[in-house]
Amino acid sequence: MAEARFSFAGGSADIPRTGLLVTTGVLPIIGHKLTMERGGRQLLDIDEIVLDGAVITAIMGPNGAGKTLLLRCLAGLQLPDSGEVSWAGMPPDRARALRLGFVFQKPVLLRRSVLANLVFALKAGGLPGRQARIVAGQALKAARLERLARSPARLLSGGEQQRLALARALALKPDILFLDEPTVSLDPGSAVAIEAMVRSAAAAGTKCVLVSHDIGQARRLAEEVIFLSGGRITERAAAPRFFREPQSREAKAYLAGEILA
Ligand SMILES: Nc1ncnc2c1ncn2[C@@H]1O[C@H](COP(=O)(O)OP(=O)(O)O)[C@@H](O)[C@H]1O
Ligand SMILES: [Mg+2]
Repeated sequence: MAEARFSFAGGSADIPRTGLLVTTGVLPIIGHKLTMERGGRQLLDIDEIVLDGAVITAIMGPNGAGKTLLLRCLAGLQLPDSGEVSWAGMPPDRARALRLGFVFQKPVLLRRSVLANLVFALKAGGLPGRQARIVAGQALKAARLERLARSPARLLSGGEQQRLALARALALKPDILFLDEPTVSLDPGSAVAIEAMVRSAAAAGTKCVLVSHDIGQARRLAEEVIFLSGGRITERAAAPRFFREPQSREAKAYLAGEILA
């Protein structure tokens, strides 16, 4: 583990995948001895977590297990009380945050058109206007939102808004995409569309880390599972093995439906 903290894995360190301002990658992302405590309760107690490789990783666990906190710490959105997060061996920094995508349960969109949401993100990533509009057009197509390009983003359906949020997170071809229960409030058709986008992002080389309570979805998408309970990782396993024979007591109970998800 110690070695991995200072290597540049994933082939993203030297060759920028988008040709933008940012020239170094963020993988592997490592959380080391992360703790967080509030009101005498241990919310996070992670010895070591390493996110790397081309697989889709699902983070599962009951409500309150610390999944969102962990994602936010690894993405540099929140500081743990103690411990370190490193991106390709260095502390998180604002410039390289462009190499990460984050999709929340509820889409966070600008009060602008669908197209403007994409163009804004691409310009913020350093693309000049013309190129930003070209890439935004491609992103709209991939999200099947072309016909809504001029609509105000806030008037879209929930599923369309989440497709836009995902398209925006992917537009800069990030090294890694975090998804925190992205389909929890969507209808099945919209969830399938999101899953297809995640699959194709992964196939194109973006590491995807998905928090989901939807066991079917995790089975369909994930190649490995990290199981969290009470702020700790109780298990990390290849997905088929995890679903076939979970090892930890907590994961067994969760999959058997004994823990209220
Ligand atoms: N800023 C905070 N202050 C105090 N408690 C928090 C804070 N953020 C989260 N928590 C608590 O930490 C626990 C883990 O939260 P969270 O990561 O959101 O869980 P999960 O995403 O697994 O459902 C929950 O019990 C939550 O209430
Ligand atoms: Mg959560």
